Amino acid sequence: MTEQALRALFDALSQEEKIGQLLQLEAGFFAQSDFQTGPAAALGLQAQDAALCGSVLNLRGAEEAKAVQARFIRQHPHHIPLLLMLDVINGYETAFPIPLAQACSFRPELTQALCAAAAREASADGLHVTFSPMADLAADCRWGRVMESSGEDPLLCAAFSAAAVRGYQGDDLAHGGTLAACGKHFAGYGAPLAGSEYAQVELSPAAFQSDYLSGYRACIGAGSRLMMTAFNTVDGIPASGSKPLLRDLLRGQLGFEGLLISDYSAIAEMIRHGYAEDRRSAARLALEAGVDMEMVGVCYVRELDALVRSGEIPQRLIDEAAWRVLKLKNDLGLFEDPYRGADAEKFRACALENRTLAAQAAAETFVLLKNDGGLLPLGAQKAAFIGPYAESRALHGAWSFFCREADTVSIRQGVEALGKAAAFCKGAPLLAPGAIIPGFSADYVESETEETQATLLREAVRAASAAETVVLCLGEQRLQSGEGGSRAEPVLPAPQMQLLRAVRDVNPNIVLILFAGRPLLLRDVLPLCKSLLYVWFPGSMGGAAIAEVLYGEKEPVGRLSMSFPASVGQCPISYRALNTGRPEALVPTGRFHNGYQDCPSAPLFPFGFGLSYSAWQCGPLTADRAAFASGEHLVLTCTVRNIGRRKSSTVLQLYLQDVCASVCRPRRELKDWHHVTLAPGAETAVSFEVTERMLQFYGPDGALRAEAGEFRAYAGFDSGTQNACAFYFQ
Ligand code: GLC
Repeated sequence: MTEQALRALFDALSQEEKIGQLLQLEAGFFAQSDFQTGPAAALGLQAQDAALCGSVLNLRGAEEAKAVQARFIRQHPHHIPLLLMLDVINGYETAFPIPLAQACSFRPELTQALCAAAAREASADGLHVTFSPMADLAADCRWGRVMESSGEDPLLCAAFSAAAVRGYQGDDLAHGGTLAACGKHFAGYGAPLAGSEYAQVELSPAAFQSDYLSGYRACIGAGSRLMMTAFNTVDGIPASGSKPLLRDLLRGQLGFEGLLISDYSAIAEMIRHGYAEDRRSAARLALEAGVDMEMVGVCYVRELDALVRSGEIPQRLIDEAAWRVLKLKNDLGLFEDPYRGADAEKFRACALENRTLAAQAAAETFVLLKNDGGLLPLGAQKAAFIGPYAESRALHGAWSFFCREADTVSIRQGVEALGKAAAFCKGAPLLAPGAIIPGFSADYVESETEETQATLLREAVRAASAAETVVLCLGEQRLQSGEGGSRAEPVLPAPQMQLLRAVRDVNPNIVLILFAGRPLLLRDVLPLCKSLLYVWFPGSMGGAAIAEVLYGEKEPVGRLSMSFPASVGQCPISYRALNTGRPEALVPTGRFHNGYQDCPSAPLFPFGFGLSYSAWQCGPLTADRAAFASGEHLVLTCTVRNIGRRKSSTVLQLYLQDVCASVCRPRRELKDWHHVTLAPGAETAVSFEVTERMLQFYGPDGALRAEAGEFRAYAGFDSGTQNACAFYFQ
């Protein structure tokens, strides 16, 4: 409807109807036509609340969504439709690779295509909004939600976050086939103290502005219609009640004008944080900070009216919030078509169509971390596929709740579809007998008795002894990462380490395939295998993509979006650390330097690392001039060569270091990259244009600036490259 008509509708709303728009309820409250008493009672909700609420989360299914929406609109005094929101994180029913894996493709356009495909599928199933992308910067593998992030680098995080928003929202939100995006979690949620879920975040203003805001800025710049507040505190204040964070920074400095929704019950949780005395103060603090909608909580619906009557908050704040809700509904076309074309047949067709994309995408996310002796790609040698993931279909990430395992392609299915003969056996359970995954019932956890485990192991040793090459398919259980998935020691589960060692005793030709939602601690694993392919959680077509890469139909092209620590004691670890006054390389004593007595300072695998099936060389990096000034640019060039025996692809990465600035700058920062594909023996010159924009950084005050001085440039195949040259910005 026109803005004028929308304004007229808004003006006709009662205070209770306006406040109702600020409430989001769980689907369970609408499961039947009458109001549920269970969770509703627990929350202190009454039937009237559900009748006037603005949104519902986790309601899905085209027919169910249309039925609930139709009933809701009929009974609403002004027939205002619900907003249907849900976590479409990496695909919907057809699961795509987890976001951390997608970032390893170094192809934001891939994520844009995946998010557009997910939007078509989910909107056909009745959804309007996705709680995605997660734009949190993450450098600590102990935190379970790194799987949802785009990793440790601000530029990569920004590129993938913006691409996701563009993919979900497309060019026209007013019609079906798209979803409104919701950048999250504002802000800094990816840096919880000690990697412990929901823990406090302690960031310097410099790091906050120059690094941690990059993903959120990118979401806003790409037009994300919603943002979500984080559970954590920033500067000792819970994000959902922080005026400095939300009013001043998000709305003021970053210019966000969309709908700000709290995370799940986060407003009420400010009482437990020790920041709100009670529900009334929680409601006041959140609304004053600028939170428009409360995700599953009764602070707003119970307290806001009284707060206005008592003069503690101005009516204006309620009006602004309710207007943003109505404006989003109008921009989604919900007043014209509250179902936005939801249709079960269309949904099924989309899910099927997305499987092709899922297979293509998965292959671009795998990272080859080791390939000594060239075991990969597999040839005609007799292979035995052993491990809990050899025939498993649980290859989708922790947020893929709607992926149907029966539709997922296992490694065995992928191998056999290629017509390859191989032996398969389980070898070990994913987890030790009796292990649990907190928060999930026992039927989520497949395990075996001790005797069965012993039988499985004997069978595996026999299969390994009879094979030339063993492909060990191991990894985390998929629900060990994700929300609430913090692990103090993110290692391979014990039964799988036992299997790896037992197989290694009889056959050293081990190709290790690792499934995980995070970088695992691999120091004890790495020496036991000759090849290591990290596949993260590749989604519905994971097994097909893995088989294609293992047998050389496709090449592994992924490059790490997160550093792999040599020890958990290094966490959080990032290649972008600042220099200290005593860098290890410059302190001969081996003691008084920034490092450890018992562990190298370097990661096991650096950000940007990944091998190919060929070999690559990089010539010296040269600059076309010694200096450039504002308004000019400089060109850096180096030659790359494919010195292997097969056509191959790699990612040439450019890092810059601002040698001396008004605040210390990282040792180096990713500034650009180029994908290069060459025939064996071929070479090409690759150039990077360096502009003033690339030299800019946000100071602690949030001001963007480039400062004159010396810069060092590094170009190579990962963040540890020493292929360097220098230039000046004047
Ligand atoms: C969760 C998550 C958030 C998600 C929301 C709705 O607690 O923190 O990322 O979008 O609830 O499921």
